[in-house]
Amino acid sequence: MKSPIPDYLNKVLDRVRDDTSGANADYIEALAKADPDKMAVAVATVDGQVYSVGDDDVEFSMQSISKAFVYALAIEDRGLSGVLAKIGVEPSGDVFNKLSLEAGSNKPMNPMINAGAITAHSLVGPPDATAEVRVARILKGMSMLAGRELKVDEAVYEAEMKDWHRNMGLGFMLKAAGIIECDPAEAVKGYIRQCSINVTVRDLAIMAGTLGNGGVHPVTGKRVIPSLSVRQVLSVMTTCGMYDAAGDWVSRVGIPAKSGVAGGIIGALPGQIGLAVFSPRLDKKGNSVRGMSMCEHLSNDMGMHMM
Ligand code: DON
Repeated sequence: MKSPIPDYLNKVLDRVRDDTSGANADYIEALAKADPDKMAVAVATVDGQVYSVGDDDVEFSMQSISKAFVYALAIEDRGLSGVLAKIGVEPSGDVFNKLSLEAGSNKPMNPMINAGAITAHSLVGPPDATAEVRVARILKGMSMLAGRELKVDEAVYEAEMKDWHRNMGLGFMLKAAGIIECDPAEAVKGYIRQCSINVTVRDLAIMAGTLGNGGVHPVTGKRVIPSLSVRQVLSVMTTCGMYDAAGDWVSRVGIPAKSGVAGGIIGALPGQIGLAVFSPRLDKKGNSVRGMSMCEHLSNDMGMHMM
């Protein structure tokens, strides 16, 4: 029997199609030039069924969505206590690239804002690793999750490197505070390369599906992330994944999630599903406008709110 799910997903696209509010991220030229009308949605069930509709073959850069998976890799390489010694878990309530450290502890507030994400990047691989070594490890881990070989979008990377001053400011701040041990320029370059990894919504849904499935890959059935790491990643996605919109998101949608400025959002509901949406126009907080609406529809229609 033909699955009714693609028809349903197309209806979700139709319901948000007319909303052309918001704007592409403009601080990275390659993102500013992306077609703002593209849109797609994909879901991956924990038993490995993947459904996608719309522009589901369009590649876009992960941007901040990468932060969730790199946090898991940092935990794998340094242990949870090693990572918690460097990065907090408190929502910041601030914009994602705020130059800030937690009062008292002097650590980045959480791994989803840039200060914490640059630190998490620096904790992947050996302490003296170059950006190249770290990014190779990250690409390998993400490719395994996606089930195909992912690549850095060099045009996106070059475009963001032209405007790296704010992230470099964060890198110097983290180095001065004794949080990152390596050369801050290597950490920031590597972080920007990790953000530039290209994916489709299908890739992201499968990757999120692994989080939803407690770390067991939904398609291969292999354990690829320890369950304690998944618990940690989903916890910070819940409280910090949508930045200063996190409270509104949790109450309206109720799914642990992470957004990126190319217009992607992933969501992962433990024991049930991984989902991914894509639409480039963002609201003022850097989250995809139509993407957020799609997630709200999915949550309401399928009873996916965690509460
Ligand atoms: O650090 C940056 O500015 C970007 N490469 C990533 C930011 C991002 O995706 C924020 N999320 N909505």
